[in-house]
Amino acid sequence: MHLVGSIDDLAKRATYRELKAQLTELFAQERNGLANASNTAAALYHGLPDLNWAGFYFMQGAELVLGPFQGKVACVRIGLGSGVCGTAAQRQETVIVPDVHAFCGHIACDADSRSEIVVPLVKSERLLGVLDLDSPLLARFDDEDRIGLSAIVELLIQRSDLHALVD
Ligand code: SME
Repeated sequence: MHLVGSIDDLAKRATYRELKAQLTELFAQERNGLANASNTAAALYHGLPDLNWAGFYFMQGAELVLGPFQGKVACVRIGLGSGVCGTAAQRQETVIVPDVHAFCGHIACDADSRSEIVVPLVKSERLLGVLDLDSPLLARFDDEDRIGLSAIVELLIQRSDLHALVD
């Protein structure tokens, strides 16, 4: 019987706990949305193993527009319902794609990407944008990542003024 999960799960949980503690401290001193989203992208990119992209898209009108990120140059505008980001935004739920080549409509920004997770940013039922993480490994993301990243997104939303980034 699985009571606490695998060693990998425990290690992931510990990493997300540390990231959340680090960001809680940063956000206690600053509410600027651009600054806090930028530091979140940097903390995730450098704090989580096996990523080749980590960043945000924010809603501008009916589109997602590229926000702060770490990684290679990325596509700037994504329509609701397009690609993994647009799908997660439209559904307002996290989408985990174990193999991006098997996801119909995946938007390839970096040819190295093999798997992806996109977590929507929703405040009081309003869609603000998405957090997107890409990995060069197949099936890099699982439920532990969904739980850990959702907690970080919630922290960012509660402790930051993101309205300036959303239109
Ligand atoms: N792959 C994403 C596009 C964004 S990049 O990965 C940074 C998608 O299919 O929506």
